[in-house]
Amino acid sequence: MVSRVIPVEPFDLVIFGGTGDLARRKILPGLFRRYLSGQMTPESRIIGAARSEMDAEGFRQMVADAIQEFGGAEKSEKKAIAEFLARLDYVAIDAKGEGGWAQLAGLMRDGVVRAFYFSVAPSLFGDLAERLHLHRIANSESRIVVEKPFGRDLESAKALNAVLATHFDETQIYRIDHYLGKETVQNLMAVRFGNVLFEPLWNNHYVDHIQITVAETVGVGGRGAYYDKSGAMRDMVQNHLMQLLCLIAMEPPSKFEADEVRNEKLKVIRALQNVDHHHIVRGQYDADGSSPSYRDDAENPRSFTESFIAMRCHINNWRWAGVPFYLRTGKKMKARSSEIAVVFKDLGHSIFEGDEARHRNILAIRLQPNEGIDLQVTIKEPGPGGMRLIDVPLDMTFSEALGDDAEDVTDAYERLIMDVIRGNQTLFMRGDEVEAAWAWTDPLINDWERRNDVPKLYDQGSAGPDDALMLMHRDGRRWRDIKG
Ligand code: BG6
Repeated sequence: MVSRVIPVEPFDLVIFGGTGDLARRKILPGLFRRYLSGQMTPESRIIGAARSEMDAEGFRQMVADAIQEFGGAEKSEKKAIAEFLARLDYVAIDAKGEGGWAQLAGLMRDGVVRAFYFSVAPSLFGDLAERLHLHRIANSESRIVVEKPFGRDLESAKALNAVLATHFDETQIYRIDHYLGKETVQNLMAVRFGNVLFEPLWNNHYVDHIQITVAETVGVGGRGAYYDKSGAMRDMVQNHLMQLLCLIAMEPPSKFEADEVRNEKLKVIRALQNVDHHHIVRGQYDADGSSPSYRDDAENPRSFTESFIAMRCHINNWRWAGVPFYLRTGKKMKARSSEIAVVFKDLGHSIFEGDEARHRNILAIRLQPNEGIDLQVTIKEPGPGGMRLIDVPLDMTFSEALGDDAEDVTDAYERLIMDVIRGNQTLFMRGDEVEAAWAWTDPLINDWERRNDVPKLYDQGSAGPDDALMLMHRDGRRWRDIKG
């Protein structure tokens, strides 16, 4: 049932930061899986470029270990791994100097797609872009891929956009938000725009509210230094949750094409109301027995950074006027669970006497785990005893619906890298989108920094601080349970 794999054009992909964590965990094992599937053809090359002095053999060994550790190896034979490794090369490069650039230039081939993945600190983007240009390694057809964090506020994001724009056109820049590469996120668009059922109801006449939850069980241990300067708002809301919000709320684009989709997303971000601080709850996880607190993990005993945030937002347009969007994300929560739930309004009038219960249709789009979609509908409870109504889910769990084929569902990074090679920017953020998202986020962050807002402590393994529950209760609503 899963669609046929269509090979992409041959490419030379240079990964700056090729020995880093992201490259080892996601990018390289992902490329290996694309090679196994036949989507990356044997004519393609991957060149690791990083500061470490190592040769191509050392890099291949590192990649072989990464494949073993981070997936893809169990199904494949040694032969396939060896074939993939033969497609790898390595250059020790000095991003701020001259070392390695001539060698890299010598490795690039004509007649294939050239892509450059900047898996490095944003402070190096300018140096890399400039040297790629200076050494004529990049041309007007080349693509560059950049990762989040894309700035930490509007000003820094604008500066990064300006640096990249000096040497590359917007059509060459691929800003990754890996949430856009997740299978279910794309399915959200298929559900909305591929069915006649939902779109007529997708507005303030029928939708009571929308909840978006991205809950994680991991803490920030190991990346505390980065995270403490960021917090849940910058790390998750400004990008991942904002993208989900855009896809759920945007107007139908006239075509499923990059700029059509991104224009619609941009309109949503620009229509977001400023959020009053009474509608934002920030939290920090507390210690739990031997499990350290957020402040211990961040090694900052006086940290005011949030590891949890919940908020109520509004979109100022005709479709969504009056419909609250509740967003929530946090670390060390009770389960790893991400979902978007569209909660429809109550029936205006019930014809079933004696049925006092509140029946609601809810469309839940589960991103992870158990990717799938379920629609809560009201039916008659089976058996005798009159007309008693119950709510049941019409469940479409992908692994059940697709069987073995579900295992072949591509990981977000793999899909996005293949899109870079294909030159398809639909699932990447445009510069103006990122800036608009910061323009909305900045005043909220500035406000709590000015007030020295102290995040509320919450228990590890919980659903966040009680105030987050109150945020909904005050409105006569409740969060959905966080279930793994
Ligand atoms: C990253 C954040 O962008 O997304 C992390 O920096 C977070 O803090 C991660 O853990 C979550 O991604 P996923 O795909 O595991 O939900």
